[in-house]
Amino acid sequence: MKEFSTPLSRKIGLRYPLVSAPMFIISNKEMLVACAEAGILGAMPSLNARTIEGFKEELAFVKNATDKPFAINVTIGLTQPERLMQDVQACLEYEVPVMITSYGNPTQIVQAAHAAGTIVLHDVINLRHAKKAQAAGVDGIIGVSQGAGGHAGTVNPYVFIPYLRQHLDVPIVGAGCISGGEQVAATLSLGAELAYMGTRFIASTECGADDRFKNMVVDSDHLDIVYTDQVSGTHANFLKQTVPDPERSEGEAKKWKDIWSAGQGVSQIHEVKSIGQIVEDIVREYWDTVSRLAG
Ligand SMILES: Cc1cc2nc3c(=O)[nH]c(=O)nc-3n(C[C@H](O)[C@H](O)[C@H](O)COP(=O)(O)O)c2cc1C
Repeated sequence: MKEFSTPLSRKIGLRYPLVSAPMFIISNKEMLVACAEAGILGAMPSLNARTIEGFKEELAFVKNATDKPFAINVTIGLTQPERLMQDVQACLEYEVPVMITSYGNPTQIVQAAHAAGTIVLHDVINLRHAKKAQAAGVDGIIGVSQGAGGHAGTVNPYVFIPYLRQHLDVPIVGAGCISGGEQVAATLSLGAELAYMGTRFIASTECGADDRFKNMVVDSDHLDIVYTDQVSGTHANFLKQTVPDPERSEGEAKKWKDIWSAGQGVSQIHEVKSIGQIVEDIVREYWDTVSRLAG
């Protein structure tokens, strides 16, 4: 498959400017390796390992399995301070090529990461946080638009990506509802330098999600997604039928792992496939789109 790239994807060393975004509980080391071998950037949250020792074992696994780039997400405000610093240190010790910071101020992490040559991307849903992260020195801003899986923003990507570009000097990564090659072409056409996809990779064979979760992503469309702050206190998108109904007593409180987050991009996901096949499909769709637009 013919490669395509942007300045940021070349800086990271990717064959394609695509990211399998970090997903709490369900992204895993097998996904990171499969993404690396497919030429894209795979990411997982450090907290998917319950202990720092477990996290280090996962880093060692990935480093042994591939010499290509991968990314670790540190969720600043959601991680105990002691564990946060341990995770950052482990990333530096194992020479993690890219760190993705979210839910907090990345200043300290950027300083430590840059001293070790690690690239830092920071995830935001508004310009205020993006400006703070730019001032902290991050290498790119991930603009999470309306309809994204996880903690999504409220601004449409047609507006949000150009708006971030207009007000910032660092590269922008487009996130939210990107499930196929047409949407990759669209986000790159708006000036994003990477396409950041979570929901699409839930429906991958390597993903650690329950098969019922994967099948629900395949069987759902955007009308099955609900944007609510009732689950975590912060607005996020979920598969409607997994969210407890506050009107009804559900007996035992539903466990976190049974409330499934996904974005409106479920409408364009029709099959569970291996990451290698997903990347091949997206790249083919991207080139078909580009040649269609070229007339
Ligand atoms: C199940 C699930 C879990 C997520 N967990 C995290 C997380 O732990 N940290 C994070 O920064 N983003 C998390 N996200 C957000 C993704 O990294 C990414 O921003 C989002 O999936 C992009 O939108 P899309 O799902 O429409 O492609 C999660 C998303 C989903 C669907």
